[in-house]
Amino acid sequence: MFSKDLGIDLGTMYTRLADSIQVLLEEPTIVSIDVDDQKMVAAGLEARDMFGKVPDNIEVARPLRNGVIADYEITETLLAYLLQRVSGSMRIFRPRVMISVPYGVTSVERRAVYEAVMEAGSREAFLIQQPLAAAIGIDLPINSPSGNMIISLGGGCTEAAVIAMYGIVVADTLRAGGTDLDEAIVTYVRRKYGVVIGQATAEQLKIRIGAAVPQDTENSMEVQGQDQVTGLPRPVTLTTGEIVEALQEPLKQIVETGRRVLEKTPPELVSDIIDRGVALCGGGALLRGIDKLLTKSLGIPAYLVDNPLTCVVQGTAKGFSMLNVIRRNLPKV
Ligand SMILES: Nc1ncnc2c1ncn2[C@@H]1O[C@H](COP(=O)(O)OP(=O)(O)OP(=O)(O)O)[C@@H](O)[C@H]1O
Ligand SMILES: [Mg+2]
Repeated sequence: MFSKDLGIDLGTMYTRLADSIQVLLEEPTIVSIDVDDQKMVAAGLEARDMFGKVPDNIEVARPLRNGVIADYEITETLLAYLLQRVSGSMRIFRPRVMISVPYGVTSVERRAVYEAVMEAGSREAFLIQQPLAAAIGIDLPINSPSGNMIISLGGGCTEAAVIAMYGIVVADTLRAGGTDLDEAIVTYVRRKYGVVIGQATAEQLKIRIGAAVPQDTENSMEVQGQDQVTGLPRPVTLTTGEIVEALQEPLKQIVETGRRVLEKTPPELVSDIIDRGVALCGGGALLRGIDKLLTKSLGIPAYLVDNPLTCVVQGTAKGFSMLNVIRRNLPKV
């Protein structure tokens, strides 16, 4: 039997669903829609594969931008589809849902998430701040009055937070993330080589050979682009060092977000954080050397957690078991 409590991590790039036992699914936050009747054609991976390959009457859309809902209808359609997929016949017993939102969202943005998940077929919905869900999913000792710091590096937003006693003490949200790193690579390649590459290609460069700090071993990768002047296809080879250079500007903003939170953190909590280190999660935490960069620039050891991609969704599902203690700290709608 399915548990009737579900956790959802509604991310800019990926949406994940879990129950108290396991992660149930992960799909790109993408929907393709028939423009004529506004019906969903495909969602998730299947929709992503349609990008740039479909006729005019089909629109492929990403309904979230920088961690918040940009297209309400499409978000609701996606959530309804995903809920149905994990619950099947459970539609008669509609689930209770705990869904993550970035810390720095407005009440209007929170309301949109709440309405979307209710309309999608939940019986009851709770919102939880993404850093709090991540801390629960990582099993940080947030039940104590001492401080825990976490930096979540998502595709569309970056969040730094200090958590104690089941609540967020200080936090900051930067509406930029992995996608902005990809864009920085696109810009770098265009400026240096006069070649235009796609964003997905830039992401591949970042993941395969990229790093946040210079590496001992240089890798290289050849990608296909389009000559800016002639418009003809042109290959270009990039090295690790070049990607590091391209990423410096957006990485500076990410570091600043962590620094701002530390500055606002009470000194007693800072000494706990120095002892325990800063937990890094989100897909961006997988960038080579990002732990070194943050350790150096914050002056506190930063480490990659064991479950960087799934800690938020695991935390949302686990949140139900501690509802009595976290409830008063959850965002109101
Ligand atoms: N090995 C890697 N190196 C660098 N970046 C990576 C790696 N793997 C994934 N990423 C990046 O992580 C991002 C996706 O992370 P994640 O799934 O945590 O985002 P999200 O939860 O959908 O977004 P958000 O939390 O901002 O709404 C993408 O930008 C992707 O390029
Ligand atoms: Mg996320």
